[in-house]
Amino acid sequence: MNDQAKRLRELVDTNKKNQKVIAVSSGKGGVGKTSIVANMAVALSNINKKVILFDGDLGLANVDIVLGIKTKYSIIDVINKSKTLEEIIVDYNTNLKIIPAGSGIEDISNVAENDLIELLEKLNELSNQTDVLLIDTGAGISKKVMTLLKNAIDIIIVATPEPTSMADAYATIKILTLNYNRKDIKMFVNMTKDKSEAQSVFNNMNNICEKFLNTKLEMASYSIFDKNLPNSIKSQKPLILDYPDSSFSISIKRLINYFFSQNIKIIDNPIKKFFNNLFRRL
Ligand SMILES: Nc1ncnc2c1ncn2[C@@H]1O[C@H](COP(=O)(O)OP(=O)(O)O)[C@@H](O)[C@H]1O
Ligand SMILES: [Mg+2]
Repeated sequence: MNDQAKRLRELVDTNKKNQKVIAVSSGKGGVGKTSIVANMAVALSNINKKVILFDGDLGLANVDIVLGIKTKYSIIDVINKSKTLEEIIVDYNTNLKIIPAGSGIEDISNVAENDLIELLEKLNELSNQTDVLLIDTGAGISKKVMTLLKNAIDIIIVATPEPTSMADAYATIKILTLNYNRKDIKMFVNMTKDKSEAQSVFNNMNNICEKFLNTKLEMASYSIFDKNLPNSIKSQKPLILDYPDSSFSISIKRLINYFFSQNIKIIDNPIKKFFNNLFRRL
């Protein structure tokens, strides 16, 4: 490892203990990573956490679309040195800053190592004023990012009940476990029929990981298929703001409770939910 990378590793390792870096990844695309990251970021900012959302999906930049923000510049401009990190950051609200991805570079692993290190160093400086750094990694976690950040981050792998999604999630977990010695991977099981399907997807994944990788997973949260979510993406307003009691929003609150023990009140009662929605529309 070169000196610069070593310095960065030290920086990250000695990061303030109460700061969190959470990367949301998956084996396969289209499983809900961006929806999870975007809604989690907004929900955290609403409970007064200072959040930076780093859109690391350079192929399909879409955090801006989910959140309905206009972005002029992107991380590509920082890598090309035509803009500083501060210049490309978009303030979503007073607590949430977005670092937009750009398109043109397929994967963050295609960025030259020195540029990446420089970028992570700048991010680290910025994260001094931050409680949570959330990263949407895109499908497949970048080798370089993993090598540099190693144990400083929590990793959530998103999978759906589709066999291809589970197989690809397993392949990603295998790399993280064998190459990076990660033994603490969290899962978010998404787009299930019901709670029991989520539990059975998790059990299957956990069983193979125990058997072949000698590692246990934890289910950080799950969500059933929520028809309000695709609509919220069309209207470019985060679901957590428009429909805070919809099942996907509840799954985000559950995820935040898992990581931050915030005890956010989860209204899981359909009757209450009905009245809440009714009153909101009046
Ligand atoms: N729990 C869910 N219920 C219904 N639709 C979902 C759910 N999670 C994700 N989606 C939909 O799936 C599509 C892909 O989601 P996205 O967050 O962009 O995935 P990724 O970032 O993994 O590619 C979007 O149209 C989104 O609305
Ligand atoms: Mg995405």
